[in-house]
Amino acid sequence: MNEQNNGRSSRLPGFYKLGLEERIEKLSDFIELTREEQYHLRHEALSPALADQMVENVVGVFGLPFGVAVNFQIQERDYLIPMAIEESSVVAAASHVAKLVREHGRITVSSTDPIMIGQIQIVGAPDPQAARARILQARERILEIANEQDPVLKEVGGGARDIEVRVLQTVRGPMVIAHLLVDVRNAMGANAVNTMAEALSLFLEGLTGGKVLLRIVSNLADRRLARARLEVSPSAFDEHGWNGEEVVEGILNAYAFALADPYRAATHNKGVMNGIDALMIATGNDWRAIEAGAHAYAARSGRYEPLTKWSRAEDGPSASAQGRPEHGRMGGKLIGEIEVPMAVGLIGGATKVHPVAKVALKILGVTSAQELGEVAAAVGLVQNLAAMRSLVTEGIQKGHMSLHARNVAVSAGAAGEAVGQVASQMVREGRIGFDRAKQILRHALRAAEREVQKLETRLGEEPPKDAPKPKPAPETGSEPKPPAESS
Ligand code: MEV
Repeated sequence: MNEQNNGRSSRLPGFYKLGLEERIEKLSDFIELTREEQYHLRHEALSPALADQMVENVVGVFGLPFGVAVNFQIQERDYLIPMAIEESSVVAAASHVAKLVREHGRITVSSTDPIMIGQIQIVGAPDPQAARARILQARERILEIANEQDPVLKEVGGGARDIEVRVLQTVRGPMVIAHLLVDVRNAMGANAVNTMAEALSLFLEGLTGGKVLLRIVSNLADRRLARARLEVSPSAFDEHGWNGEEVVEGILNAYAFALADPYRAATHNKGVMNGIDALMIATGNDWRAIEAGAHAYAARSGRYEPLTKWSRAEDGPSASAQGRPEHGRMGGKLIGEIEVPMAVGLIGGATKVHPVAKVALKILGVTSAQELGEVAAAVGLVQNLAAMRSLVTEGIQKGHMSLHARNVAVSAGAAGEAVGQVASQMVREGRIGFDRAKQILRHALRAAEREVQKLETRLGEEPPKDAPKPKPAPETGSEPKPPAESS
């Protein structure tokens, strides 16, 4: 139990075994969901009418599974992590590894102030270096003009903080590029920054003799970083017959691979973003902005690298005693670190409009955008650890396959209990595919028809020609389905 989250623990054993209704009830115990919030989880995440207010040319609403990762304890505080994601295993993997870390280690987080960068491009300045100097000299006036655009931001302690200027050599000649640094507090900040940047156009043109062209936020939000660090004892991975020490060695080798190879680093980082994006989507944040920032940051050295770092703490038995110093000290804790740009908001965008994003933020219980960013960094780090743990032990497919098989079964027409039956058979056989699912369903249908015939014969009754047939087992049509285009 944890005092910092109203005494509620995110350690919810068996949550995954509950039915959807029971999970919503459990969740309501955690955060007291109103009837309306429960309605949005059960029935209508987003109404078409509301969607129509959000973007153009709306013709419907697109749904995604909305799950909750349990067991997270970050800096002594318990969190349930809302995740919107279509990929199976991500929520389960995060929950499981969060449990290992809370029981055998800990997670700490930190972040910078929420400073976003607004870029202003000035072309055609007759003397770019002199233009640069003049912009820097006018710093106070520039900040004043910028801050006049958003008095509310100023009131809550944010606002334009500084201006930086570079002269960039481009294929079309030198350009003066000014960066307006804005503390955006709890907003994602793009709107505030873009408004300020646009408002500075005339002033900067007068100052430089050039023409202001682009005025737009940068998604490489490297002044707005979130950091998470976790440490976990190797014994945490002594599961399912695996040796925790070997698992940790495997993870360090997996990390070394990613560090040495951008092909692997991209996939390694995709695993990190599985966690971060799912949380961003659930909370109505601009996940494309986070993605763009994360990958640009991963390439900041000029080479694309992993977003996380993994090492062993120097607290194990001496390396030389083990004769393999190149792998670090056996016995030492596994240390994971992440630092990632985190342009997230609690206000603006879909966060305050989308009914389920509002529920997600309530579930998460963060009070500032900085806290949201820190939690997101921790989730990314845990997700990365979960992926590497699977990859260096049983492989990723085992976990993926049972849920994947269920999806295949549904796409082949199974419904109700038949979904689990068809999926289990495909997993048992090691043959998961649409055609195989159809075959199993047809086979089950024929078997059920034979049973019906036998029953009819036993009863000595000829069924009337138009009598409805009893439902075959396994059930293939208990849920309403659109008319099939082909069978
Ligand atoms: C799959 O969505 C993510 C992984 O490929 C990440 C990784 O390889 O580290 C499993």
